[in-house]
Amino acid sequence: MTSVSPVPNVPLNDGNTIPQVGFGVWQVPDDETFTAVTSALSIGYRSIDTAAIYGNEVGTGRAIAASGVPRDELFVTTKLWNGKTQPWTRDSVFFEFDASLDRLGLDHLDLYLIHWPRAVRDDYREIWRALTELKADGRVTSIGVSNFQPAQVRTIIDDTGVTPVINQIEVHPDFAQPELRALHQELGIVTEAWSPLGQGRGLLDDPVLARIAEKHQRSTAQVVLGWHLQLGNVVIPKSVTPHRIRQNFEVFDFELDTDDLAAIESLDVGNRLGPDPDTFDV
Ligand code: A2P
Repeated sequence: MTSVSPVPNVPLNDGNTIPQVGFGVWQVPDDETFTAVTSALSIGYRSIDTAAIYGNEVGTGRAIAASGVPRDELFVTTKLWNGKTQPWTRDSVFFEFDASLDRLGLDHLDLYLIHWPRAVRDDYREIWRALTELKADGRVTSIGVSNFQPAQVRTIIDDTGVTPVINQIEVHPDFAQPELRALHQELGIVTEAWSPLGQGRGLLDDPVLARIAEKHQRSTAQVVLGWHLQLGNVVIPKSVTPHRIRQNFEVFDFELDTDDLAAIESLDVGNRLGPDPDTFDV
């Protein structure tokens, strides 16, 4: 029996689509990833977001294989960890791509991202060219970037004529990134929010969110995810807690009104939690 997913598919600029809610496994140890991804897939998630640097592609792949979900119903994303001191070449990108596929136990990917621009080194340009080749060869369906700033987004488009389908960036109500989201909209790039719940820290105790949650009889996490969805963001909330994994998927049966959205917009105080892409370089 196949059930109809409640999750909308968001169109990408290359003609493909991505489920608007996926399951993120950042900070999930590899030995816990099998259980977490298995739980997410059984609840109905069909998009999984991992990365080479997370160290849990093996656990992710094992859960995918064990789930019995047909590969063509899944959307799998991983990211090139370009944080090594090497001048990146086409060959080293291909090598890392193959290594990720091996760890995942897959023969193709739905989405491959450059993890960080590391703009001071400038080699993201070479890496993007290599990703365009992987796509042309059909080894990955869609290609995109993560943590790119406007200058780097424009540079890779100017270099290759290929626009990333997605820029996966830190976004949550207290770090809402309106300028970057507006640029994405202008260029036809989907905003995918990492740490969409603000890493579950103080944000979820915010009294404004608590009031809106009470009004809709939802949790503050669900209100935050609803806000993302109504902005058009793709989200990849992370949890290792089964009832939260489920809760984060049950976000399509309520609608925030304009007052709610305005109140949430007022929470944006530029509270970046992760590294600043302008300076991050490891
Ligand atoms: P846990 O994994 O222990 O369940 P983000 O996706 O923004 O990085 O947030 C992830 C963090 O938020 C994790 O610490 C996770 O905790 C917590 N979290 C995930 N979903 C919920 C939820 N529905 N309610 C409260 N906390 C949550």
